[in-house]
Amino acid sequence: MTTLAAIEDLSVAFRQGSRSVTALDSVNLTINSGERLAIIGESGSGKSTLALALAGLLPASAEQIGKIHWPNGRPLPGRDIGMVFQDPSASLDPVLTIGEQVAEGAVAHLGLDWKAARLRARDLLARVQLPDPQSLLHAFPHQLSGGQRQRVAIAAAIAAGPVLLIADEATSALDTIVQAEIVALLRSLVAEEGMTLLFITHDIALASSLADRIAVFRQAKLVEIGTSADITRHPREFYTASLLAAHIDLTTPPLIGERA
Ligand SMILES: Nc1ncnc2c1ncn2[C@@H]1O[C@H](COP(=O)(O)OP(=O)(O)OP(=O)(O)O)[C@@H](O)[C@H]1O
Ligand SMILES: [Mg+2]
Repeated sequence: MTTLAAIEDLSVAFRQGSRSVTALDSVNLTINSGERLAIIGESGSGKSTLALALAGLLPASAEQIGKIHWPNGRPLPGRDIGMVFQDPSASLDPVLTIGEQVAEGAVAHLGLDWKAARLRARDLLARVQLPDPQSLLHAFPHQLSGGQRQRVAIAAAIAAGPVLLIADEATSALDTIVQAEIVALLRSLVAEEGMTLLFITHDIALASSLADRIAVFRQAKLVEIGTSADITRHPREFYTASLLAAHIDLTTPPLIGERA
């Protein structure tokens, strides 16, 4: 097992006028190459801040202490790290064709000319299982459903062949059937491309169905990490148990009895 990134004592605070909000507090976490790691936790626990810190995309108002060590070299956001967010409309430009947006990453980071990049875009649209990729190249985002737009956003995120794909609540706005389809797509893409997946979600059931390991965040701290099986069967933290209790289908009755 090789290390993709070693996060050491990472703290991030945001200045808000005279106040400072701690978004991450002394986080230590090793991300293994090729693993599917889920980050779960309540709203405001620091999940997105962790993703932005990894991608080197924290805003100027953020104060970061601690280190992120990349044994294979510091990645370039957009090329080595692809990101997919909750709202695909936010990452897709309404006035650019689907082909232009997916090809853009290949032009910017792989040095392809537009003709070659459009061919790659067509292949990527097929990889994310969108129908009729050739005509889709000329379509605009508003002509697609939410689930289809999220597939386009995933195609754009992997256009430059990233080593790490970060999906930040990427399925939260979708209905459960489309959500399951996108999760299945992410699973097969990361396996085929040998990517590492950081899957950020509120949903512990979704996390355990997809991830090898789950890291639980609460109030800026990493409170628990383990294999998906360990976290769902033997949570050490009361907070994790309470997240599980909200998904009783994942736990055995004695566990709920003990922890409640
Ligand atoms: N750009 C920013 N400026 C000021 N404060 C911020 C900024 N980004 C995040 N924060 C604060 O940092 C803390 C962690 O936020 P973060 O967005 O990482 O949480 P999260 O776990 O992703 O939440 P959610 O599940 O709602 O997306 C919160 O208190 C938030 O208000
Ligand atoms: Mg977030």
